[in-house]
Amino acid sequence: MPAVTKPLPKSVLISESCLQKRIRELGRQILADYKNQELVLLGVLRGSVIFFADLSRAIFEAQLEEPSREIQIRFEFVQLTSYNNNTQPSAVELIHGGSNYLKQRHILIVEDIIDTGQTLNFLYEHLLTLKPKTVKVCTLLNKPSKRRVPATIDYIGFEVPDAFVVGYGLDYAQQYRNLPYIALLEST
Ligand code: IMP
Repeated sequence: MPAVTKPLPKSVLISESCLQKRIRELGRQILADYKNQELVLLGVLRGSVIFFADLSRAIFEAQLEEPSREIQIRFEFVQLTSYNNNTQPSAVELIHGGSNYLKQRHILIVEDIIDTGQTLNFLYEHLLTLKPKTVKVCTLLNKPSKRRVPATIDYIGFEVPDAFVVGYGLDYAQQYRNLPYIALLEST
């Protein structure tokens, strides 16, 4: 049996109940801002999937509290990849989604975490070429300490420190996405 070398989630940074409470607040805020409009929730694969699912249902639950407000929601997804280079900003590439359907729509990008800001910057520029009505950004986590390019973020779940976090969709080497909370990783 080979020695286990992968880091283990160390400590809970954001508990399941804190996540769910904040996501319910975001759902109410989004409902208030987009009431009686059509909205495309644009999930960034793969890290945002759990947040995306909970956020979309939080918007629905907010509608139940305020039936006079309604948003017609459509789901779309994009997948991007970035090639890391220690000296240059990463090159980001779109590998799935971002179709012409987004033309003349209100788009809300749903991200797991904004770190350097490069992925978001690339996606934002790409979406503008499709001529949407509006583009806003909702991220579960914001890690401003690592920013390389400016990022305008309309909805933020939580600010996190300069540390690698996993869980609730976020991975380390494709592991830990299914943790129901956000955890810090053990470094050794
Ligand atoms: P950015 O382009 O540097 O803003 O990073 C975008 C992507 O990097 C995110 O969507 C995540 O997939 C990944 N990422 C950045 N920081 C973390 C982290 O702390 N844990 C897990 N993934 C991260």
